[in-house]
Amino acid sequence: MARLKNTKLARQIHERVKKDGSPLVLISRSALKAQVARFRKALPRVTPYYAIKANSHRDILKVMVAEGTCFDVASIAEMDAVLEAGAKPSQIIFANTIKPVAALKEAGLRGVDLMTFDNECELDKIAEHAPGTRVLVRISVPNVGSIVELGLKFGVDPADAISLLIKAYKLGLRPVGVSFHVGSQCLRSENYSEALEIAAIIARDAHLKQLPFEILDIGGGFPIMQGADEEDPFDHMASVVSSELDRLFEPHIQVIAEPGRFFAGPAGTLITRVVGKAIRENKHWYYLDDGLYGTLSAQVFDHAKFEYKTTREGRTRLCALAGPTCDSFDTIARSVEMPELDIGDIVYVERIGAYSTGSATTFNGMPMAKVVMVP
Ligand SMILES: Cc1ncc(COP(=O)(O)O)c(C=O)c1O
Repeated sequence: MARLKNTKLARQIHERVKKDGSPLVLISRSALKAQVARFRKALPRVTPYYAIKANSHRDILKVMVAEGTCFDVASIAEMDAVLEAGAKPSQIIFANTIKPVAALKEAGLRGVDLMTFDNECELDKIAEHAPGTRVLVRISVPNVGSIVELGLKFGVDPADAISLLIKAYKLGLRPVGVSFHVGSQCLRSENYSEALEIAAIIARDAHLKQLPFEILDIGGGFPIMQGADEEDPFDHMASVVSSELDRLFEPHIQVIAEPGRFFAGPAGTLITRVVGKAIRENKHWYYLDDGLYGTLSAQVFDHAKFEYKTTREGRTRLCALAGPTCDSFDTIARSVEMPELDIGDIVYVERIGAYSTGSATTFNGMPMAKVVMVP
């Protein structure tokens, strides 16, 4: 049997599992705070609105409130979560371009008055059920090479943005600018520079038509490192965005962003344990207590590619990892290098704080991972 690693991380993982069991997701408060600080340093002109769809755990929201970030919410449940965590309505953008009538009314009751939209029907709904709201038109922009494409369902053709802003004005709403999203885990800085060029043309056109252009919302998409050996892609991306903002937009235009993955992703570590093992296809299959219906649903919905690690060390062999449910689909990886593992051994995944616990279910009655905030 392979030895246990004697590293600080391995010891911490074992202590935590002894205390909290598994599956377990650790969220590092210091990592969250470090990401907020990094964002602010690299993009001093941009106010971050944390997109809580990435991870809406209460403790994360509390850290973000304490850090003074604003929030992007997509539903009334998300809105209530950030308000309960201590955010003010003025710190919230309702950044779902399609909102049910009931949600528009509830947003108004809570005093949230900044929203995105991308079509005429939505404008009519907003004007009727949330009159006087400040609205940003979401335009469609290139999502080339982004790991999660967000341009299919949302965004009006930029050529139609001004006429929608004029319509908003005529309906008694307050058109305040433009929003876009370059796709999540954006690895191509040109997506941002092209989107900013397009937004700048709309800003100039709005000015000519005497329409207000007060806010530019550059969305999310800011990338994180996926593998330990990768170069961190954020700094380059942020420096391109920062210099393009200064080149293209007057200083009086307020710039906001909706980062989700960038804040929550690096802060999360999933810890699972081996609950079964078999030899199939001439290799070991290890069955874990979390899988594709749980935290690792990120592999399915977020197209995440994770590195699987264990706290054992020794000669590695090719093996397969599977989740705990009765579905063959719940096969996590068919060819991973691991030392030989036994029941109760640990397999963990780093940088899994975003788009993971949020899409987990309890299929087959398998418990969802407990989420614990650690220093
Ligand atoms: C409207 C909107 N804003 C922000 C985000 C967060 O994006 P990211 O996690 O890539 O920063 C998303 C992600 O789906 C989104 O749809």
